[in-house]
Amino acid sequence: MDYTAYFKQALDQIKSENRYRVFRALERNACFPESRCADQEIISWCGVDYLGLTQNTYLKQAFCENVQRYGIGSGGTRNIGGTHLKHVELEARLAALHAQEAALLFTSGYVANQTTLATLGKVLPNLVYLSDAENHMSIIEGIRESQAQKIIFAHNDLADLEKKLASLPAEQPKIIVFETVYSMSGHFAPVSKIIDLAKQYSALTYADEVHALGVYGPQGGGRIEELGLAGAVDIVQGTLGKGFGLLGGYISAAQSIIEAIRLMGHGFIFTVSLPPAICATAVQVLDYLRTERQEQRHLAQLVTYLKMKMQEMGLPLLDSDSQILPIWVGEATRCQTITERLFVEEGIYVQAVNYPTVRKGQERLRISPTAAHTFAQADQLVQALKKIFAI
Ligand SMILES: Cc1ncc(COP(=O)(O)O)c(C=O)c1O
Repeated sequence: MDYTAYFKQALDQIKSENRYRVFRALERNACFPESRCADQEIISWCGVDYLGLTQNTYLKQAFCENVQRYGIGSGGTRNIGGTHLKHVELEARLAALHAQEAALLFTSGYVANQTTLATLGKVLPNLVYLSDAENHMSIIEGIRESQAQKIIFAHNDLADLEKKLASLPAEQPKIIVFETVYSMSGHFAPVSKIIDLAKQYSALTYADEVHALGVYGPQGGGRIEELGLAGAVDIVQGTLGKGFGLLGGYISAAQSIIEAIRLMGHGFIFTVSLPPAICATAVQVLDYLRTERQEQRHLAQLVTYLKMKMQEMGLPLLDSDSQILPIWVGEATRCQTITERLFVEEGIYVQAVNYPTVRKGQERLRISPTAAHTFAQADQLVQALKKIFAI
């Protein structure tokens, strides 16, 4: 059996569809978003460090001190020797942030979604998930693993959601799963209307706040906090990466739900827990965001400015509500060519977004400004995009 041939065939297939991904190895330094890659000075516009906290001087210092104090790792699973006071403290803080009874940490936001959704399907008999068509792969995988029934509703389409809810037996357990900020379109979800429908049809709600944390809400608690709806969504999932600048994931919910996932969720039980130094730093990130709003404000102003400039220049910016700025390309080869030219000719790094991250034919650039970018850099980006898109 020629195993190598199978792998080669799979890779050739990806290459033939222009989906082969080259990872740029950045030599990222303390003046992010400026960075170096293979001896070239570049500016990155595709990270998710939305508030620039990965390079925050105070938080970097705090992280170093936490490593000195607690060590580099947890040394165990949460079940067996790996639960630290800092895990417990952070879970209490995350629960409070979302006005929920309890929270549970995971090693990433991906694992949080996958494990929670897979486990809920095992706890609730005859469960049906109603899942937005633009939901993230971690949600898709979790639902698949749960083996529960799945109904996809058209993206952000409340009429379609209601039609599908109404078609189900009243007594069947239902969970509506959505993202508050969609990662590839930048759309906001109509959160309060989804909550209303859930109440009307006796469903639970599950919201992924991954792209909203830090960026929205008076304490950085996300879109639900910003809308004054904290506590009104049944299960809130989040990440310590992205806006919070670290690594890790979590859910927050009622105590009984958290307990069920803690005791039955394989992706929680059978893996080494997050390093306590990360958890201690995450608590400091939450403290920081309670008092410091300058990153949030700067990002909001920069996003407004960029949207205005991109529209002025006639760039095919899609109708984003948020800090995520998708620019339409619609074809894999052109998407690769544009990003390559931006990189080589303009020193601008934007990763091409192609299948399976978006559907084929939906290829785009996904620009994500951060609080670390300046207005001058925004001007440079828009000029570069105008030039390359004209070709
Ligand atoms: C909507 C959404 N949910 C979950 C995740 C996974 O989060 P993490 O990066 O913490 O694993 C991502 C990652 O990109 C995401 O875009």
